[in-house]
Amino acid sequence: MTKLGVNVDHVATLRQARKTYEPDPVTAALLAEQGGADVITVHLREDRRHVQERDLRLLKETVFTKLNLEMSTASDIVEIAISTRPHQVTLVPERRQEVTTEGGLDVVLQKETLKDLIKRLKDNGILVSLFIDPEAGQIRGSSEAGAELVELHTGAYANAPSEGLRLAQLARLRQGALLAREEGLRVNAGHGLNYHNVGPIVEELGAEELHIGHSIVSRAVFVGIKRAVEEMKELIYRHGLLVERTTQKG
Ligand code: PXP
Repeated sequence: MTKLGVNVDHVATLRQARKTYEPDPVTAALLAEQGGADVITVHLREDRRHVQERDLRLLKETVFTKLNLEMSTASDIVEIAISTRPHQVTLVPERRQEVTTEGGLDVVLQKETLKDLIKRLKDNGILVSLFIDPEAGQIRGSSEAGAELVELHTGAYANAPSEGLRLAQLARLRQGALLAREEGLRVNAGHGLNYHNVGPIVEELGAEELHIGHSIVSRAVFVGIKRAVEEMKELIYRHGLLVERTTQKG
């Protein structure tokens, strides 16, 4: 069954709006776990716009499911990752001007650098995932660079302006997931997923983990984070059951 990774960055975004102590993303992570989160994700950005090193340190001590650190390949961030040792690192491209992570990582362009970095992270006992667009070249490049996992970027699917384009993006993701598995990679997915569009992704991709942030934290403002996570888990579970029933019939 597909697992849910909850990204609590935006709890820290709210805290940083006042540079105060609340709301605390560490508390949010604990409550998200109580709601059924299987993974807690934070992105320690180079500009520290939301998550701070203090959050990462405390999360490493308190998360009892799995801690996934999203990060760029910047050397000071790599050192922090190695000294903190989250269970998993997801390498993402990062630009200071962007509102959120935009495209996937260009693995093809930086394959040699990534190879060394991935080896170093793995040698330190950290699982390495690469956040990439569902393109054949990037998928093969990820496998050649030594990654164990890829997170397929679902942003183009989530933001498709029409039903036809959305279905085309879904087919692209499905093909990408198949190819990734042929290449020996495990498959996660995320970005832009919400309560309305997550179902087909669960049904079509068979991803191990879906990483979801903005929609869950937004819903949490109204219903609380534990309930917001429970509702997303329930959706993933129901759509997952459909897949299991179809597979059993087939
Ligand atoms: N996966 C990755 C690699 C991301 O960078 C983000 C955004 O931080 C997400 C998933 C979650 O995206 P969203 O906030 O749109 O759910």
